[in-house]
Amino acid sequence: MSKSVTKYYCQECGYESLKWLGKCPGCEKWNTMVEELVQPLSISDRGAASFSSLPQEPKLLSQIELSEIERLKSNLNEFDRVLGGGIVPGMLILIGGDPGIGKSTLLLQVSSLLGSNVNRNKAKKVLYVTGEESAEQIKLRADRLNIKTDSLYILPECNMSYILTQVENLMPQMVVIDSIQTVYMPEVSSSPGSVSQIRECTTALMYLAKGKSIPIFVVGHVTKEGSIAGPKVLEHIVDTVLYFEGDEQYTYRILRTIKNRFGSTNEIGVFEMLETGLTEVNSPSAAFLSQKPQGVSGSVVTAAIEGTRPILVEIQALVTPTNFGLPRRESFGIDYNRMSILLAILEKKIGLHLGQYDVFVNVAGGMKVAEPAVDLSVACSVASSLLDRVIPSSIIIFGEVGLSGEIRSVSLVEKRIEEALKLGFKQCILPVSNMERLKKKTAINLMGVGTLREALEAAQIWKGSA
Ligand SMILES: Nc1ncnc2c1ncn2[C@@H]1O[C@H](COP(=O)(O)OP(=O)(O)OP(=O)(O)O)[C@@H](O)[C@H]1O
Ligand SMILES: [Mg+2]
Repeated sequence: MSKSVTKYYCQECGYESLKWLGKCPGCEKWNTMVEELVQPLSISDRGAASFSSLPQEPKLLSQIELSEIERLKSNLNEFDRVLGGGIVPGMLILIGGDPGIGKSTLLLQVSSLLGSNVNRNKAKKVLYVTGEESAEQIKLRADRLNIKTDSLYILPECNMSYILTQVENLMPQMVVIDSIQTVYMPEVSSSPGSVSQIRECTTALMYLAKGKSIPIFVVGHVTKEGSIAGPKVLEHIVDTVLYFEGDEQYTYRILRTIKNRFGSTNEIGVFEMLETGLTEVNSPSAAFLSQKPQGVSGSVVTAAIEGTRPILVEIQALVTPTNFGLPRRESFGIDYNRMSILLAILEKKIGLHLGQYDVFVNVAGGMKVAEPAVDLSVACSVASSLLDRVIPSSIIIFGEVGLSGEIRSVSLVEKRIEEALKLGFKQCILPVSNMERLKKKTAINLMGVGTLREALEAAQIWKGSA
């Protein structure tokens, strides 16, 4: 057996080092390096004994025959859609989300749907491994969710080698691991939740999923910053990464694909968390727009990109006459300096005199948006509030505003438009340069604008003069 060595791993990004470092060179975070004893594992330790061990011959691409993939349907349409049309056998899926957002609830519901005879679907054997809760807790939740199924097995277990044995014995058609941070490989000496444990356990699950063609769902905790706790390699190993997110104040929950080897990553699934569990929200647009005030000046929706994810946010502005000599300017959720520049552009290029007004700009819902693509919506909401003219709620606006009042192109326009369409928007004001380069036809009415003045006209708050 090979000798074990001590290594230091960054708990944020998984950076590996032989000596301790105060600052991680990988992600530049401080005090994230933790000592772990590493014993190199053989492939069989990883549960791969059943994975094809015969050496493979290279094959010509044209000679590879495709067998028809039959996707398992949970009949929870929003869930199936996010996965690209259902669960593919052998798929390893990671679901991340804030504490208490409803990850266990969602997976328990999906397990029970697969485990029952719904819509003439044959009941599937499902194994739900829980490292966080006792079997009684799961039973309590199942009773609350009114779950009745005869083919759902619950296994309260943290030891990975026992879990692998149980899977081999039971041969279920789907496995849920809740959560990856609580399971451990006995051969790895570091504690559960550490970088090496997470990596080894996920690799073992990957071999199991591929070797036995069993789809495996893995629940992952998220860090304070909102990314899945553990190294990035975790996201590389799995086939699909889903995020379950939502605001504590609201009952709406969004399931979003970050990565999918078997489908598009542009899908979102919207659910509502009720006492009886998660129910699908069939028209997300109606649900989301109900939060936005109608017929009010100073309010506009924009599409921002978070990482690779498009997120629609409402920008609100309030412009009131100042009572003091020096006007007040406040921004919540967007950069203060960026807002000051936009106010200066509105003053110089459009001729809106803001010198006698207090200006407050807010991103509704406590969101923070840092990218320049929200510039145009901020400028439009300020102008809308100042002139007290309402921007129609069917319009979504995005684009970067240059210092001479020109509208510059932004990235990932297709994703923004797709998200806007999904949430029911009818018109989109966007940089004309982006519009010209769009390849796909879309059902949304696109209004390309080259200057801030054109954008204000398109948003119906400027008619050639104030
Ligand atoms: N009796 C209830 N009525 C309504 N909603 C409930 C009830 N009990 C729990 N919930 C909802 O379920 C949520 C907890 O769901 P769940 O345990 O699935 O979350 P989780 O994401 O698995 O959390 P964790 O990260 O702690 O494992 C609660 O935050 C709450 O919104
Ligand atoms: Mg849970």
